[in-house]
Amino acid sequence: MTDPDLHARALAAEAAANNDATGWFERLYAEAEAGEAAVPWDTRVPHPLLVDWADAVGLHGHGEPALVIGCGYGDDAEFAAARGFGVTAFDVSPSAVAGVRARFPESTVDYVAADLFELPSAWRQAYQLVIEIFTVQALPERLREAAVAAICETVAPGGRLIVIQRQRPDGPAPEGPPWPLTRADIDLFTANGLAAVQIELLPDASGNGARWRAEFRRPVAQ
Ligand SMILES: C[S@@+](CC[C@H](N)C(=O)[O-])C[C@H]1O[C@@H](n2cnc3c(N)ncnc32)[C@H](O)[C@@H]1O
Repeated sequence: MTDPDLHARALAAEAAANNDATGWFERLYAEAEAGEAAVPWDTRVPHPLLVDWADAVGLHGHGEPALVIGCGYGDDAEFAAARGFGVTAFDVSPSAVAGVRARFPESTVDYVAADLFELPSAWRQAYQLVIEIFTVQALPERLREAAVAAICETVAPGGRLIVIQRQRPDGPAPEGPPWPLTRADIDLFTANGLAAVQIELLPDASGNGARWRAEFRRPVAQ
């Protein structure tokens, strides 16, 4: 097995050469399901900055609907379900969805294969909590505005969106993936009908750079 990061980047580069921004995720997860590769972001725990935020705001869903974007192997979705939300979690990779269903066979989470850029119309402004961790940064910058708009579109009036992403300073974009976000990128979330509640720049526990943790809300009267 090769270095997981290098292998993922090689798959992404190959897909990019074919003008395909997302096909490499399915290839990677299919290989992982076959035991032939490792998924570099598969930590097997909910993101610590999500857990920390949930504790700080006293998060409890009381059965309200939540949506997890690009859910991968489901740790953040299971965390939201444990906090009392009725969770739908989706990923563009059918193999990831099959893998997470097998991993949590008793789960209350509805795991679905879906593309952020072609979401069901029933999901429009339907979720009281939306969790977006590392999907936007995994997509090329040319898709950034569309990705952010699609995520914002799922937040219900009065609902909240929590976003966690790698930070990058202003200046030339790195050769991704990932393509970390500038402050201007984070501000795109407020260009889509949401208001910023809190935007923080926090050190990552791994010591590997900084992370944005940003909370947004859709105003009730819209
Ligand atoms: C870097 S991973 C992060 C996974 C997970 N959110 C986490 O933090 O561990 C990005 C995830 O987004 C998914 N993804 C990428 N493009 C997508 C799209 N267009 N629609 C839905 N999911 C997508 C990938 O399959 C992958 O699971």
